[in-house]
Amino acid sequence: MSLQALSSTQFQFENQTQFYKGKVRDVYSIGQDLLVMVACDRISAFDHVLPRAIPHKGQVLNAVAGLFLDKTSDIVPNWKISMPDPHVTIGYRCEALPIEFVVRNYLTGHAWRVYKSGLRMLCGNTLPEGMKENDKFPEPIVTPATKAQEGHDEDTTYDEILQKGIVTKARLDELYRISLALFQRGTEIAAEKGLILVDTKYEFGLRNDEIMLIDEIHTPDSSRFFYADTYESLQRNGQPQRQLSKEFVREWLMENGFQGREGEVIPAMTDEFVNSITERYEELYQAMTGLPLERRSYENIETQIEQSIIQALKQIDHE
Ligand SMILES: Nc1ncnc2c1ncn2[C@@H]1O[C@H](COP(=O)(O)OP(=O)(O)O)[C@@H](O)[C@H]1O
Ligand SMILES: [Mg+2]
Repeated sequence: MSLQALSSTQFQFENQTQFYKGKVRDVYSIGQDLLVMVACDRISAFDHVLPRAIPHKGQVLNAVAGLFLDKTSDIVPNWKISMPDPHVTIGYRCEALPIEFVVRNYLTGHAWRVYKSGLRMLCGNTLPEGMKENDKFPEPIVTPATKAQEGHDEDTTYDEILQKGIVTKARLDELYRISLALFQRGTEIAAEKGLILVDTKYEFGLRNDEIMLIDEIHTPDSSRFFYADTYESLQRNGQPQRQLSKEFVREWLMENGFQGREGEVIPAMTDEFVNSITERYEELYQAMTGLPLERRSYENIETQIEQSIIQALKQIDHE
């Protein structure tokens, strides 16, 4: 039996003004002000969409993002209005800033790869000497990246963002401040659940010239988490951290000769591997919320989704 998953959607809503197929999400613009985002079950790594979708992944992403958007709305207003279906968020359409605000508290992933190559400068931040992989920084740092239209996001710096005139200095300072405050909140919530928020990225947009938090936040696609209870001892013994994130998918790809470079081929994914990814996402959901994931039904899923969106849009219209 092949696994059921939502790889993509193709709806045509009333007043639909645009359709954007992201790597993971299908984004429908409705009128000028609204966005319907379907978190599909696609999975991406090294900026490539993998050939198979992961059952229940979209639902986990959507739920975790929704939870954290609600728990951070006192720090910065965000785009979310409602979640009419486990795979869907409806919210305000904003003018997205072409910058990803990455915040890191540990020397992991890309930061570690840069450090290992001998560099001690990351996006304008000087990194201390003598660090090992997954060591904690003295304090969280912002390592912004340009959001590329196609392909890889590139590291950038505070100064470069200003030079390019993407935002004013006052606004950029505000965005740095908000990013660090969000990271602080995410760290606290993760800690209550026995998790460490290792790093994450935020996206912001403007609506009526005001800063809004957009996109997903603190999800396993946009963040890394370690288990807190084993962190110190693993670190002392120079062992890899127990992670709740996509990192194991990246590792599997690298072991099979793929890291997103030209000419490389994405290895075939077995049912077993796909299932193991679903289980990781489920584990993260449970760790994050303390609740077991209610696996949604995939029967007539397109119709289920379409109907709940139509209903929700009608309701928003009447408000
Ligand atoms: N409220 C919003 N307003 C405008 N754009 C948004 C909003 N929320 C998310 N987006 C954009 O929608 C897209 C989400 O789809 P995703 O699968 O992450 O695509 P991508 O491949 O571009 O990262 C992203 O490009 C993100 O910047
Ligand atoms: Mg994205």
